[in-house]
Amino acid sequence: MLERLRAGDVRALARAVSLVEDGGAGAAQLLAAVRVHESHAVRIGVTGPPGAGKSTLVEQMVRWLRGRGERVGVVAVDPTSPYTGGALLGDRIRMQGIADDEGVYVRSMASRGAMGGLSRAVGDVCDVLAASGRGAIVIETVGVGQDEVDVARLADVTVLVLVPGMGDDVQSMKAGVMEMADVFVVNKSDREGADRVAAEIVSMQGLGAASDRWVAPVVKTVATTGEGVAELMEAVLRCADAKRGAQRKGSGEARGLRLDHLGVAVKSIAAAKGFYEALGMEVAHEETVEFEQVKTAMLPLGESRIELLEPTVEDSVIGKFLAKRGEGLHHIAVQVEEIDAMFAKLKADGVRLASDAVRVGAGGHRYFFVHPASTGGVLLEIVGEA
Ligand code: CO
Repeated sequence: MLERLRAGDVRALARAVSLVEDGGAGAAQLLAAVRVHESHAVRIGVTGPPGAGKSTLVEQMVRWLRGRGERVGVVAVDPTSPYTGGALLGDRIRMQGIADDEGVYVRSMASRGAMGGLSRAVGDVCDVLAASGRGAIVIETVGVGQDEVDVARLADVTVLVLVPGMGDDVQSMKAGVMEMADVFVVNKSDREGADRVAAEIVSMQGLGAASDRWVAPVVKTVATTGEGVAELMEAVLRCADAKRGAQRKGSGEARGLRLDHLGVAVKSIAAAKGFYEALGMEVAHEETVEFEQVKTAMLPLGESRIELLEPTVEDSVIGKFLAKRGEGLHHIAVQVEEIDAMFAKLKADGVRLASDAVRVGAGGHRYFFVHPASTGGVLLEIVGEA
């Protein structure tokens, strides 16, 4: 089922969604399996008070995404629906315009009421949709109570839909609801009072917006005609990009760290590279580093590489490694921006280094090694920028 799900098979997707919704036997196993691979699906939460035209807007958002060739999943969280099994007919009616499109998968889910219950079930279904190769997942709520806060937690981007005529209500919206919006929509903006609502949102934002944070834009739409939908979607995707950039920074990229390569010790590069070539990888660079007594082959892998290492003589570092441990992972290489500064810092921190200085190796790269005693048991190569 997992294989067919990944291939985009719609029936497998429907079965997988039912399985995780019911939480029955196999659900945990399936979820663990779908979460192994990171998905690039953008999760868009759409919330706002009843009557704001969210369903129509969601339909337009889906159309826009389909126009860009994206396959889309829609999860409609409906607190009035007492069961999920019978939701299909409702789905057909509410999404009439796109119901026959194989590239759109719509699922209604009952709100379970209990805090956390909703997020877990909806989040699980989103993970399954993401695994089925959907480029975007839209999560729509009716926007009352706890649901909207839960949805903001699940979504990469939260869209809050408001309408003219709310007047002072913008200020009286439930605490925390305005703050969680990444993009504001003033829908039905052909009606009187649209500018006033937009202005009120902007003035409220001015109170708490920190300059280094994403400032939620206010987009005016008319969902029934599609007006403003392109602008809305561009804002949504910009926000998703901004958040992902911030996430990457949080995980080391801001400090210029990245996985440069994995070094694998082999008896023979000629014999070992066959497997990697069968996998679809190619040798980009081969070089013999005389003073290390090693022959190397670099095979690019995304932004990283696999480095095959073959000793030129038995009495070399790699030769001894093979004699003692056999073929296998020899080292992990992490690239840093300022290699001299890193060498000095680690030395000062008392880290056990396996090189007495920064050296020049294959391809002219500068590097040094950190001893496994300091890294959790793996030889770590620090590489400077090319
Ligand atoms: Co290396």
